[in-house]
Amino acid sequence: MDDEGQHVDSREHAVTLDAQDPLSEIRQEFLIPSKAQLKTKSLPQAESHDQFHDPSIYLCGNSLGLPPRLVSTRLQQHFATWSSQGVFGHFKPLTESPLPTWLDADSKASEMMAPIVGAHPAEVAIMETLTANLHLLMSAFYRPDINGRHKIILESKAFPSDHFVVETQIKHHSLDPTLSMIEISPPSQTSSLLTTEYILSIIDKHASDTALLLLPGIQFYTGQLFDIPAITAHARSLGIFVIWDLAHAVGNVPIQLHDWNVDAAAWCSYKYINAGPGAIGGLFVHERHSQGEFSGRLAGWWGSRKETRFAMDNHFDPISGAKGFQLSNPSILDITALNASLEVFAMAGGMEPIREKSVKITAYLEKLLRGSESFNMNLFEIITPVQPSRRGAQLSLKLRDGFLDVVMKELEDRSVVVDERKPDVIRVAPAPLYNTYGDCWAFVRAFGEALDVAVKAKKGELKAEGTKELEATT
Ligand SMILES: Cc1ncc(COP(=O)(O)O)c(C=O)c1O
Repeated sequence: MDDEGQHVDSREHAVTLDAQDPLSEIRQEFLIPSKAQLKTKSLPQAESHDQFHDPSIYLCGNSLGLPPRLVSTRLQQHFATWSSQGVFGHFKPLTESPLPTWLDADSKASEMMAPIVGAHPAEVAIMETLTANLHLLMSAFYRPDINGRHKIILESKAFPSDHFVVETQIKHHSLDPTLSMIEISPPSQTSSLLTTEYILSIIDKHASDTALLLLPGIQFYTGQLFDIPAITAHARSLGIFVIWDLAHAVGNVPIQLHDWNVDAAAWCSYKYINAGPGAIGGLFVHERHSQGEFSGRLAGWWGSRKETRFAMDNHFDPISGAKGFQLSNPSILDITALNASLEVFAMAGGMEPIREKSVKITAYLEKLLRGSESFNMNLFEIITPVQPSRRGAQLSLKLRDGFLDVVMKELEDRSVVVDERKPDVIRVAPAPLYNTYGDCWAFVRAFGEALDVAVKAKKGELKAEGTKELEATT
């Protein structure tokens, strides 16, 4: 029971928590697909979300964040600029326009992104996409031919793109991945988690010939948040260059890249940053690595200083800081969408209140999952760490063998959106900017029903096979 005499797992309690939520108004800034829209197969006329709107339970911001309304407004304003100004949109400021000129759009974006990743604006470049940026960072900072250290350490369960980046960078230098690629595997058969101590022990083992460490801030499958400052400090003390892939961490947990002395990082903006599918990414390069001419960096004209960029004299005059890594002029459509979504972060008061709600709402979801009498804990396991300091907004639920397809279908039938990672995990992410305690409550109820259906289906299968195995646990 709570202070109001409500059961903590009741719908009324969820309503009370939503009423007390200081970020509850921010949900209005987002377009949440309705249940009917998710079932329709035709393109809606417009984003008319307000009439008769019965929102779906969307807990999938770890995969693709929902659109802020402001994105549509700012894109229309961008279109009005382009259509009324043509090429002058590059440098002509318009009165009453909230948009930067196209020439300044990337700087504006890095200014807005810097507090979210804990960096100086000069250490942030908004450019390209995550995988491309990892390659660009490695092309600059993985130089086995120069320093003789050839190994790159990553986790064995790294996101495939990260794995491919490391593997092909090694091959690109005519080295052999079986010798130069060190994968950290979970030491235990029963858990996918990697403790900090274990990671440090692998770093120690390979320290003398390791050039670079690439880890995710948050592991995509388990939702584990790594101890970025401790791992960075240890690896750097051994002469290893440290890159973090922040795909699942940016906009999700507080990050202090500058103060944590991280060498470099890259991220995407379509998950918790809500800038849209395939949105422009970003990278961080610590200020100690990006001053002046820099021999390792691949260059393009947009990395040149604005003052000399248009001189057309084939002299690369790099912007000091991360922006010197920029190659092409960025898509303004893309950057406008990102800047609009970053405006919503500012409206919410930045990462501190967002994280505060995230910790609470994720703990609430976990409590409902662990405490619900409507389903049996033997049917799934929460594989995300229990401690709030070791996770963001995502809980990964590992289901009993053979349950995944049925559970996903039943959730979808109930207009509950989560995502799956085969063979047996569903990921549930209460994104604090737009999710409610009510969403978590509704998910848990639907999940219980979905498990019931999965159990019945399994029992039917076992009966047909003449075994009784499942009965012991249900
Ligand atoms: C951890 C991680 N790394 C890399 C990627 C690939 O990102 P992109 O397709 O934007 O390069 C993703 C995509 O979700 C990811 O989650």
